[in-house]
Amino acid sequence: MKVSIFGIGYVGAVSAACLAADGNDVTAVDPNGDKVDALNQGRSPIVEPGLDEIIERTIRNGSLRATSDAEAAVHASELSLVCVGTPSRANGSLDTGYVKMACEEIGKALAKTDAFHSVVMRSTILPGTMESLVIPTLEAASGKRAGIDFGIGYYPEFLRESTAIKDYYKPGAIVIGRYLADEKTAERLKALNAHLPTTPVITDVRTAEAVKYTNNCWHAVKISFANEIGNICKAVGIDGHEVMDILCSDTRLNISTAYMKPGFAFGGSCLPKDLRALRYKAREQDVVTPILDAAMAANNVQLDRAFKLVEESGNKRVGMVGLTFKADTDDLRESPLVALAEQLHGKGYDLTIYDPNVKRMHGNGYNRSTIGHLSAFVTDDIDEVMSRADTIVIGNHDRAATKVMESDKDDLKVIDLVRMEGRERLNGQYQGICW
Ligand SMILES: NC(=O)c1ccc[n+]([C@@H]2O[C@H](COP(=O)([O-])OP(=O)(O)OC[C@H]3O[C@@H](n4cnc5c(N)ncnc54)[C@H](O)[C@@H]3O)[C@@H](O)[C@H]2O)c1
Repeated sequence: MKVSIFGIGYVGAVSAACLAADGNDVTAVDPNGDKVDALNQGRSPIVEPGLDEIIERTIRNGSLRATSDAEAAVHASELSLVCVGTPSRANGSLDTGYVKMACEEIGKALAKTDAFHSVVMRSTILPGTMESLVIPTLEAASGKRAGIDFGIGYYPEFLRESTAIKDYYKPGAIVIGRYLADEKTAERLKALNAHLPTTPVITDVRTAEAVKYTNNCWHAVKISFANEIGNICKAVGIDGHEVMDILCSDTRLNISTAYMKPGFAFGGSCLPKDLRALRYKAREQDVVTPILDAAMAANNVQLDRAFKLVEESGNKRVGMVGLTFKADTDDLRESPLVALAEQLHGKGYDLTIYDPNVKRMHGNGYNRSTIGHLSAFVTDDIDEVMSRADTIVIGNHDRAATKVMESDKDDLKVIDLVRMEGRERLNGQYQGICW
């Protein structure tokens, strides 16, 4: 494929060299004359293991060249990959000035060609930037429509400096953000990756933009978490490396998809208690634990969100499915659903709570003291909840929750904390806690 790469930086130089080595015809574009000259002389403009050799070879065999002429590069290619920088401004916001400039240049070139050229962003841009900046800029400069007269896509880069070439040939993930019905651009990107061992994930451009940020923020949180555990372990004479190695060896619960779904607050008899105790122990050792502290604060945020959604539903008669911290247990210790129910009761809401396990254990006289006055609102009859309440909060994945999702009751509002199936059916009557 004929490809132009905008930006000969850490991403652009590696992409240009590897795509040329893979048999594509590549033109790299940069306003920086020194970088253009270096590349054309077969030298890498950046330090990256293995890159010099690939650039030297691909320049020599004619599959790679560099220029500062954006228009010529667009006209000589079917697809442009935009790899320009998106640095932080002093206030922390993202500076998309280089992206805008590159889009203006590409747009002007598109105005002068009838070919269906694909413009693909690789720079890291915040969710929504394709639609708020990239597409409008290209359309204004070209006088053409994205996805119809020219192709458009978002294709985030995940390589790491110093292992960039290895990462290119063995990517953990390839994500292609497709814009509406622009199959052609998605197909072109798939073709560029066809020889790699990773199957691309196709999604929409906004999701692809969000994935890139989620990835990097996740890596940042992991690093700080491991450092924090190391700090605590060192203070009490334990090797944090050994602790983290053992933690990582559990690929069922620890390094896995477990606990990695957006939803409601955590609770139960272990997580809050153990988080508190470890923070206390660290404090005793004068070790600060901002990550562990934030985990507790973030949990309270989810509780507040659930309460706010009930408030916003505008109804005073509220039902809940579930009171225990998860289905199929009667354990009420530190259940966030108990905290939510207490908050609702305290604010004068008329509550009915479906939880057959709690109801059953009441029969034995057990558990009553844990929830005190809430026990009067607990029932094991979901029909009672459905007939009485105008808003129902689904807090547990229980069979009864499915019945709520299938309800035909007019104006019933459903607040879902657990991501139930059948959401689309309820349309405007439905709110997920964080989806
Ligand atoms: N560096 C990484 O490891 C890495 C990894 C993944 C994603 N990213 C993202 O990729 C993007 C590029 O990062 P980088 O580290 O390669 O940046 P960089 O600063 O090293 O390179 C950017 C290049 O773009 C050039 N440029 C600016 N305006 C241009 C224009 N109008 N036309 C052509 N070229 C232009 C600059 O001269 C520069 O050479 C950023 O959004 C970054 O967040 C970087």
